[in-house]
Amino acid sequence: MNTLRVRADRSAVRRAAELLRAGEVVAFPTETVYGLGADATDPRAVAKIFAAKGRPEDNPLIVHIADADSLNEIAEVNPEGVADRLRAAFWPGPLTVVLPARPGLASNALGGLPTVAVRMPSHPVALDLIRALGRPLAAPSANRSGRPSPTDADAVCADLNGRIAMVLDGGPTDIGLESTVVDCTTSPPVILRPGGISRRDILSITGSLGLVVGGDLARSPGTRYRHYAPRAQVVRMGADEAVRVAARPEVPGLPGVEPRRIAIMASEDMLRHLVAWPGPVYSLGDSPSEAGRRFFRGLRALDHPSSDVIAVVWDDDQGVGEALLNRLTKAAGKAADGMLLFVCTGNTCRSAMAEALWNLRYPQLQARSAGVAALSGAPVSAGALRAIQGIQPKAALEHHRARRVDEVLDDPAWVVTMTEDQTEWVKALRPEWSDKVASLSRWATGRPGDLSDPYGSSDAAYEALARKIDELLPRLWQGLTERMSKNT
Ligand code: TXA
Ligand code: MG
Repeated sequence: MNTLRVRADRSAVRRAAELLRAGEVVAFPTETVYGLGADATDPRAVAKIFAAKGRPEDNPLIVHIADADSLNEIAEVNPEGVADRLRAAFWPGPLTVVLPARPGLASNALGGLPTVAVRMPSHPVALDLIRALGRPLAAPSANRSGRPSPTDADAVCADLNGRIAMVLDGGPTDIGLESTVVDCTTSPPVILRPGGISRRDILSITGSLGLVVGGDLARSPGTRYRHYAPRAQVVRMGADEAVRVAARPEVPGLPGVEPRRIAIMASEDMLRHLVAWPGPVYSLGDSPSEAGRRFFRGLRALDHPSSDVIAVVWDDDQGVGEALLNRLTKAAGKAADGMLLFVCTGNTCRSAMAEALWNLRYPQLQARSAGVAALSGAPVSAGALRAIQGIQPKAALEHHRARRVDEVLDDPAWVVTMTEDQTEWVKALRPEWSDKVASLSRWATGRPGDLSDPYGSSDAAYEALARKIDELLPRLWQGLTERMSKNT
């Protein structure tokens, strides 16, 4: 297929709408990233999006609309409910709300789910296109699945040239990171993906936000897959680490990689420390919003065969920083292989729950579990079973059987204990693991801490513990990713 690339003026938008009506797919600019659109009511057109992107079919698309009234036609909206207040505050703009779907949309656009993610973008070309089509527009980001999202027409063409009918070129996008996705089907609502609208701004409207219990996996299918990654390995560096690296051009934890084969992306300020860096560098500018705008472009710009590693210097987790850190962590996630071992005492409760919850959230890094004093073959305790049933029924624990730490045959990449004492026991039992064992609290927060044995307590206590563990897992993932960038 010949891909038409045209400047997004009036007549180009009209032409794009005709193509959409004829069941074709067209890439267009939004204020966040470029989208790849198809008529959301036409399953055959929607199927072309999945084919062009190589996107897994169970990963639903965002449905874009051009006026707030259309929301009521495609989703169940409670007047004065939280979704209604969020859209009043942030539409048009980088906010996506997930709501129960009404009939009429192509079910493949929804990935077979009973819910729909809806957004009203603020980019004039996107709005004109949707109005010209006169129907809701299903559109994921216009990249090949797994690649960095496109922030200009060049990036779209690099991924999709020859696979789609047309690219409307509206210049580089303003925000550069995707919309914030808020699931409004639960109370309180939950942020499934941080993005263009900050957590604080969302909170100012919702008053409270829930935790993603049982893994963003179950709630937002897209989070299951590797994302945003260029071909080179991506690692994150903290600012202090980068300053040390600048003094001696050797990246700790990347032994054997020549510095000139390591590309660095960092703020203007940080790059002043790195003037002598022998590899390519890319500036994230001097404000968080500029960094957001430049991040995906930088990943693509630095993804050259002469670099094996792209090291991104970033610490900020506030506002747009949270979204950037989220994308960076996911881009770096591809380095995660090997096994994660959770350890508690009997392996019938805490570590077994952690294993099950982790594997739902992060299937790309297999977790197992064991106990320092386990009775081999013992089933999971009744309290733990009920707690997991309560918070995450998909996390099957009935078949788990306890085993001792000294029965673990394959070597874990990391060992995560529930208490500080257990860390010491693991070191005594398996000295060869000494440099890769720490408590969940230490891995996740950098501080010591114990998750105590709930044996004999109430169901409520078991459930609170399960939630606590689940809540720490994203920070554990973050901690491991950082550690990977230092030690592999
Ligand atoms: O800024 C954006 O949101 C861009 C522009 C083009 O609008 N779009 C975008 O779409 O980033 P995409 O497909 O790359 O990401 C959509 C995310 C995915 O993680 C998907 O799993 C999630 O939204 N999602 C879509 N429908 C959902 C639903 N019904 N429930 C939960 N998550 C959903
Ligand atoms: Mg995407």
